[in-house]
Amino acid sequence: MKILGIESSCDETAAAVVVDGRDVHSNIISTQIPIHTLYGGVVPEIASRAHIERVNQVIEKALTDAGETLESIDAIAVTYGPGLVGSLLVGVSAAKAIAWAKDLPLVGVHHIEGHISANYIENKDLEPPFLCLVVSGGHTHLVRVVDYGKYEILGRTVDDAAGEAFDKVARAIGLGYPGGPKIEAEAKNGDEEAIDFPVAKVRGSEYDFSFSGLKSAVLNYLNSERMKSGSSLEPAAAFDGERIYGIRRADIAASFQKAVVSALVGHAMAAVEEYRVDRIAIAGGVASNGAFRGAMEEECRRRGIGFYRPSPILCTDNAAMIGAAGYYDYLAGRRDGWDLNAVPGLALGER
Ligand code: KG4
Ligand code: ZN
Repeated sequence: MKILGIESSCDETAAAVVVDGRDVHSNIISTQIPIHTLYGGVVPEIASRAHIERVNQVIEKALTDAGETLESIDAIAVTYGPGLVGSLLVGVSAAKAIAWAKDLPLVGVHHIEGHISANYIENKDLEPPFLCLVVSGGHTHLVRVVDYGKYEILGRTVDDAAGEAFDKVARAIGLGYPGGPKIEAEAKNGDEEAIDFPVAKVRGSEYDFSFSGLKSAVLNYLNSERMKSGSSLEPAAAFDGERIYGIRRADIAASFQKAVVSALVGHAMAAVEEYRVDRIAIAGGVASNGAFRGAMEEECRRRGIGFYRPSPILCTDNAAMIGAAGYYDYLAGRRDGWDLNAVPGLALGER
């Protein structure tokens, strides 16, 4: 079954052709990162406009690369939430127009379900049940994948998402947007033991995450170093090519990254032990972080459990993952009508 997947929930306009949920015949991603970099983050209004300009070409390229036409496609799967409403609407409208014109089944897909399903693409043997830690710019969810399309959320962030923390700290130390890859690159030259940044535990919930305290810890640290140095400059402006207020920026990046990674891995391993699972997967933009992947791999190897992660290109927003998730939703009988709408706050498992 050939599915055309469409994704436009944030700042990537993407389309892909996926066969039987696992074989990717094309995967086109048009990123808006260079545009949003000018503003230091995603500007929703600009994102929607850029999606409108690109969506048709991206879909056409996905079809051409796969050697398909709209006549040979069997169904359309599209992200309808969560995400930026104006961005989501572009993909949803394009999908509805095609499905209507070609009389094709329309399947609305949950964006996080897409991220989780990215793991099916390169791991043909992976089937539920398994645990999945979804870490992106908008979400941090520790999920039990009970069956295809059936999820039990064990924990989530109570404030910032992990990727959001990367982005905010990167901005504060003058690394710019998007923060994750820039912090990772900077951290490679740093000492992760240099500064002890604490990660708050969420009271009463073992698997919930909190990253806004960590971001504040970094900002407070910078502030106190600034006082000591007597500088009148903001941290980003005080960067001299190597240091901020005399502290190596690479050390700040590495110490921050270590704190995020240890919180993520710590929660994941606690769940592995409590639920006695033999497989865990990671997903989402932050899952392309080498330090995180390495730490997960190591801990899983020590415990003798299977570790799954998508290639970096399938970690960040893409439509192949939507085609994969859409296939299993289709098999489960999901069909949407012309009233399918963008749902910016869509919860996982909500129908
Ligand atoms: O999954 P994604 O593309 O979009 C959302 O659904 O949010 O994730 C984007 C997030 C951004 O916050 C970005 O900084 C982060 O993923 N990210 C990373 C890395 N690459 C992307 N964070 C840490 N290390 C990376 N290498
Ligand atoms: Zn995403």
